[in-house]
Amino acid sequence: MKLYEALADEVAGCIASGQLPPGQRVPSVRETSRSRGVSPSTVFEAYYLLEARGLIEARPRSGYFVTHAAAKPPEPDISAPQTDGRAVEVSDLVFEVLGHARNKAVVPLGSAFPSPTLFPLPKLALALGKAVRRLDPWRTVEDLSPGSATLRRQIGLRYLAMGCGVDTEELVITNGAMEALNLCLEAVTRPGDLVAVESPTFYAALQALERHSLRAVEIATHPRHGVDVSALASVLQRHPVKACWLMPNFQNPLGSLMPDSSKQQLVQLLAEHQVPLIEDDVYAELYFGPQKPKPAKAWDRSGLVMHCSSFSKSLAPGYRVGWAAAGRFSKEVARRKLMNSLAASLPSQEGLSEYLQHGGYDRHLRQLRATLAAHRNVVLRAIDKCFPAGTKVTLPEGGYFVWVELPQTVDALEVHRLALSHDISLAPGHLFSADRRYRHHLRLNFGHPDNPHIEKALHTIGQIAKALA
Ligand SMILES: Cc1ncc(COP(=O)(O)O)c(C=O)c1O
Repeated sequence: MKLYEALADEVAGCIASGQLPPGQRVPSVRETSRSRGVSPSTVFEAYYLLEARGLIEARPRSGYFVTHAAAKPPEPDISAPQTDGRAVEVSDLVFEVLGHARNKAVVPLGSAFPSPTLFPLPKLALALGKAVRRLDPWRTVEDLSPGSATLRRQIGLRYLAMGCGVDTEELVITNGAMEALNLCLEAVTRPGDLVAVESPTFYAALQALERHSLRAVEIATHPRHGVDVSALASVLQRHPVKACWLMPNFQNPLGSLMPDSSKQQLVQLLAEHQVPLIEDDVYAELYFGPQKPKPAKAWDRSGLVMHCSSFSKSLAPGYRVGWAAAGRFSKEVARRKLMNSLAASLPSQEGLSEYLQHGGYDRHLRQLRATLAAHRNVVLRAIDKCFPAGTKVTLPEGGYFVWVELPQTVDALEVHRLALSHDISLAPGHLFSADRRYRHHLRLNFGHPDNPHIEKALHTIGQIAKALA
């Protein structure tokens, strides 16, 4: 155990025993550093960790305080989708609704992205400059798909550190996770095939099915534990599913996290049916618990799991660097990458590789997690205070989305239209299912702690929902 982890555990113990009650100021970084004989950065790391666990919160110019338990409405029920396969048509609505979230003047509760100011942009720029200056020009010819060997080595090391060894030969670098997911989907399906997705699911997964003329079968999910493996088992018995596209870690939009035992069962089930899993894992680094959750891939023994991720949500949003660890399909995915767009941008790949080696990625991540966890509590408290009676909401242990279920009479598209007239975006539930069943649900983004208008915007949404309820 590292020094800062031991210190964090000790303070957590004092909070659990009541020695440090809610609202109590915890000793300042300077006091603790002096009394313990440790560096201020060790104390900061410990306090970031406690913040990420939701135990303490920073108050501007006042220091750190023990948090009051996150007030929160009850959580939504397990979803109950129709389990027939159906064609998908969501793109027009997605473009219509989410186009507005790009406008900087709009409060971005509907955005899919975290605030770009949360990322170490100056350090990334330095790493990029250094890497590009020493880049051998021939690498632009040599380093086509599967991508930069140095970056693949760095990514391989991160898999190793979480106890999920991935051969660097298996890795294909892509333009963000979205390309990785699409290439994996293409590698294992043909038009007309049936693909299992969570219900609700990320609208871009539905758009990918739409684009490839695939049909979706939606699987029930638990708001905290993600996809219901027994519901999937029963669908696999009845339907010729050709692939699953799932998000075991911090699912978009629920924020749910599958327990390890369910991930293991999932991988076993799919191996029995020889169905590939396209695992979308872009939020794994944004965990608020004590350790990074493993991907389902960690239990894969048959090469059926195609693990896709990127740096877009955790480090470098605009760099568009992602990857697939595509198991037995990796050669096919690399070939498709080559045919699709030849290669990912080499300067971006080399800059990220340089940063991963020397830039302090883990330190940045600790701070980012703490910031997001603290802001999740702010948003949950505001929802609890301002939304109509009967509202239900998820309690995500990572990522930056909460899923809100409003009273049944409230039409989320109407809330969206009215909120937009107040310059507030949100993602209405209609976008997250092929049959648009989530009509009184919203996905809200809590990844913009630097935006001073969030709490007021939540109050406005609450007023709108109350008026419609
Ligand atoms: C669940 C999920 N998967 C994939 C992506 C796309 O990631 P990238 O920006 O790396 O392409 C997103 C982005 O919003 C996402 O939320």
